[in-house]
Amino acid sequence: MSMQATVKHLWSLPDMLGIEWTDGTSSEFASLWLRDNLREDRDPHSGQRLVDIADLPEDPRIRSATAQNGVIRVEWENEPRPGSFTLQWLQANAADGSVRQSEFTPKRWLDGARLDAARDFAWAAFSDLQTSRSLRTHWLTRLLQDGIAFLNGVPATDAGILDAAALAGRVSETNYGRVYDVRSVPQPENLAYSDLGLGLHTDNPYREPVPGFQVLHALIASPDGGDSLFGDGFAIAEHMRASFPDAFAVLTRTAVPFSYRSENAELYAERPLIQLTCSGEVSAVHYNSRSIAPLRLSARDARPFYSAYRCFAALLREPRFHLQISLRDGDLVIFDNQRTLHGRTAFSSARHPRHLRGCYLTRDSVFSEAALLRREFRTENDS
Ligand SMILES: [Fe+2]
Repeated sequence: MSMQATVKHLWSLPDMLGIEWTDGTSSEFASLWLRDNLREDRDPHSGQRLVDIADLPEDPRIRSATAQNGVIRVEWENEPRPGSFTLQWLQANAADGSVRQSEFTPKRWLDGARLDAARDFAWAAFSDLQTSRSLRTHWLTRLLQDGIAFLNGVPATDAGILDAAALAGRVSETNYGRVYDVRSVPQPENLAYSDLGLGLHTDNPYREPVPGFQVLHALIASPDGGDSLFGDGFAIAEHMRASFPDAFAVLTRTAVPFSYRSENAELYAERPLIQLTCSGEVSAVHYNSRSIAPLRLSARDARPFYSAYRCFAALLREPRFHLQISLRDGDLVIFDNQRTLHGRTAFSSARHPRHLRGCYLTRDSVFSEAALLRREFRTENDS
């Protein structure tokens, strides 16, 4: 439905309002839904609702509906108050069966190996992002669409990563602190702090909530090994749905336990490896073989689960899905930790030290920051 459509025909029954739009589409609105969405029942300042469903009549019956000057006026039987709804509002909130699109709708990329991180994803200089709100709006929008974006020129100071992170969202503190250092140590409590290569994974599925976005700042990049790997979990999951639908279904309905124990943390959470929205779209992937705890599965259920789990693991190992980049000193990458899997190639800390600093951002704060900036520009354009 186009956003410019106007009313061609308006009709009503006691329990329903119907609109035939001039662009040929039509919409239906239940009387109770309209009664539930009266503007007058919202606080004019905050926009929050002043009533809940128990305050409303169970079966409000529409007596009349008229259209005038872009507004539909509805009167109900036995109610003194009419309701007014703008056409624009009705169009925006109609249940027309289409998936709601936003500027932040993911643009999936499956074949990461064919992509060039420098060419195909959003990059910005840290100093430019600090000073240009329009650049930041664009960069954050690309981050949300692609699930990953990059900065360069981030100062190699303790605060560098936090100054950069503040341009995207709010840091969430964990038992690792507000920031953590990824470099090799003897007897690491997490294999991330070793020289080992790491396959594609998401971080910390044992937390509640799972870290939203991850930021990694290359303080000292390794010139030999230690390349960063990324894969689009949404695209790989959709590929799995198309190619191995039964295995995909098993992973969406099997709760997998994840746990982490250290001196100062005892963490446990259960979630499916592939998480869906109520309408069946992939909304998150959680894959971290280092922190999977024993599943409590009957022998009968174990076989299909392990088969599906192996299938997903094999897909994640396919080099064609891997975007590979050698970060340089001062580069920073930010990615959606519930969508974009990450890993690295092995390196030798004895030959070349490698030091990344990381932090997590709450997921909602990054979406909010991007939406606020976009609202600012919309308002400017409207005025
Ligand atoms: Fe990680």
